Amino acid sequence: MTEIRYGLIGAGMMGQEHIRNLALLEGATVAALADPDDAMRHQSADLAGAAARAFGDYRDLLSWASAEDSLDALIIASPNHTHAGVLDDVLATPLPVLVEKPLCTTSADCVQVQERSAARMAPVWVAMEYRYIPPVAEILRAMQAGEIGQPHMLTIREHRFPFLEKVGDWNRFNRYTGGTLVEKCCHFFDLMRLFAGADPTRVFAVGGQAVNHLDESYQGERPDILDNAMVTVAFENGMNASLELCMFADGAYFQEDISVIGDAAKIEAKVPGPARFWPGGEERAAEVTFSPRDPKGPQDRPVAVDTHILEAGDHHGSTYYQHERFRDLIRAGSGQPDVTVEDGLWSVRMGEAAERSIQTGEAIRF
Ligand SMILES: NC(=O)c1ccc[n+]([C@@H]2O[C@H](COP(=O)([O-])OP(=O)(O)OC[C@H]3O[C@@H](n4cnc5c(N)ncnc54)[C@H](O)[C@@H]3O)[C@@H](O)[C@H]2O)c1
Repeated sequence: MTEIRYGLIGAGMMGQEHIRNLALLEGATVAALADPDDAMRHQSADLAGAAARAFGDYRDLLSWASAEDSLDALIIASPNHTHAGVLDDVLATPLPVLVEKPLCTTSADCVQVQERSAARMAPVWVAMEYRYIPPVAEILRAMQAGEIGQPHMLTIREHRFPFLEKVGDWNRFNRYTGGTLVEKCCHFFDLMRLFAGADPTRVFAVGGQAVNHLDESYQGERPDILDNAMVTVAFENGMNASLELCMFADGAYFQEDISVIGDAAKIEAKVPGPARFWPGGEERAAEVTFSPRDPKGPQDRPVAVDTHILEAGDHHGSTYYQHERFRDLIRAGSGQPDVTVEDGLWSVRMGEAAERSIQTGEAIRF
């Protein structure tokens, strides 16, 4: 299989990021897309090109794919609360699937997906793009090469812009997103598990809605999503991690600051947010600093990313690099996804626990 034909379900902001990245990827074509929103469907069809079929209902896309054997893989980028229902139909196909995070809005739904995917031949890959942000990948490489010694502490700080406007305003309410710590922070909980190489044992969090969306109203209802939180996570191997999220800090130069400290060294990555929100709109470089304890002397490790790849999305090139790996898995015809349904389930479970900890004031044990 040289050219892989993708079908996209949900063609809004993230769906269009997938289209732009697949356009850069060798051996990839968006052959079809489905979106009930006319404006998004038309925008995405223009972006994907004349050869792409456009459907209003994803079930018509699936019927077409099955009748004509016209697709090799599916991507789900519809709103979070639709993932469980869409997956119900998609898992019945024989096609490899890339499903956007969070896998579902509740861990109970994720468990159902896990049970159904276990019986499938084709892979289900949960889209955890942050693993593929090049400076984040450099942290993992350095850890695996033993450069920081035995890792003990992991800190993730995200200081970013407020939630954007979405089609139908689905991201304003916990019942559609799963809650900010599921919707947004499942990425960071996934990174914590990846870096720790272990599962968590307990989570404690504080947080609130301090600034954002307080004066908004949707059919008389005010958004209930958190805009700030601090989360502490303990892992079964003794590693400890913390997350600091602030969604009204878009004046900060760097959006993510991620560090891991081992008994031999600290490594830290600083990643800028999307260029389109920064004055001038120019792409900016990330920074990685390696700080050994002996001999002392922090070292900068430049991580270059092609500008075209940076420009294809809001996630510092990660969507492209994730697609390279997903395409290679499809071509191989066998093997495990980098990010499994179990990984997707754990990231939702941790986000859910953090939300519950904020509500109850208690630490949540797994
Ligand atoms: N991995 C990341 O970094 C990242 C970043 C942004 C968004 N996302 C995820 O991508 C998904 C989409 O988010 P978005 O920002 O593009 O939202 P969006 O609102 O911009 O786009 C969602 C699109 O899905 C369409 N849609 C709604 N119901 C549908 C259905 N049943 N079938 C097909 N399409 C349907 C909507 O009309 C809309 O065009 C969400 O799960 C979100 O969490 C991931």
